[in-house]
Amino acid sequence: MSMYMAKIHPSVLCANHGDIKGEILKLEKAGVDYFHIDVMDGNFVPNFGCGTEIIKTIKQTTNIPMDVHLMVVDPMRHIKLFYDLGASVIIIHPEADKHAARTLAAIKEMGAVPGIAINPGTSIETIKELLPICGHVLAMTVNPGFAGQAFLEYTVGKIQKLGELSKQFGFTLCVDGNINIEKVQFLLPFGVTNFVIGTALFQDNYSEMINTIKVL
Ligand code: DX5
Ligand code: ZN
Repeated sequence: MSMYMAKIHPSVLCANHGDIKGEILKLEKAGVDYFHIDVMDGNFVPNFGCGTEIIKTIKQTTNIPMDVHLMVVDPMRHIKLFYDLGASVIIIHPEADKHAARTLAAIKEMGAVPGIAINPGTSIETIKELLPICGHVLAMTVNPGFAGQAFLEYTVGKIQKLGELSKQFGFTLCVDGNINIEKVQFLLPFGVTNFVIGTALFQDNYSEMINTIKVL
């Protein structure tokens, strides 16, 4: 078993939206740690994702915390909305925000954990000043916008470096994009502790998959 038990964030985007309450309850029973909510504006990314109604339903159904992944331009305009809906972790893309440091400080001030998502094409160099003020870092292993894409191997070197930096600065390191059991096993030794899982989790019997991951 590794030093820490992996934390699992099911990607709500991939759940059966015809029975969202049922899905949330089954995932809760299966032992997930967070609900990962993908919010998209059709501008920063070419797609639309989860909306506020789903977040309200999750909040009414469970006490498991939500991490909200804002793939939106100018996220400062929306952080209060998502905080008020019950987000515990609010993740912004620095590429979408002219003043990411100000937005992260505002998220912290409200009482949520401030996080950044790092696109596959974004280097640590360009975001490193933000790391001391982040509680959560979401390393993207696909380009954001769609579930079910292929894992981008070239992100692994950056994840290894972020693993070292997470020890220095104390942020939680999470990965997002085509994560499955093998990827969890591969990335845990680098210091990744949290895993967003979409397609792979919902294709499978999720309690079996979660049990397997929890003993890695
Ligand atoms: C991609 C999203 C992911 C996605 C994960 O833009 O941020 O959270 O839904 O789904 P999979 O695991 O299928 O890549
Ligand atoms: Zn996401």
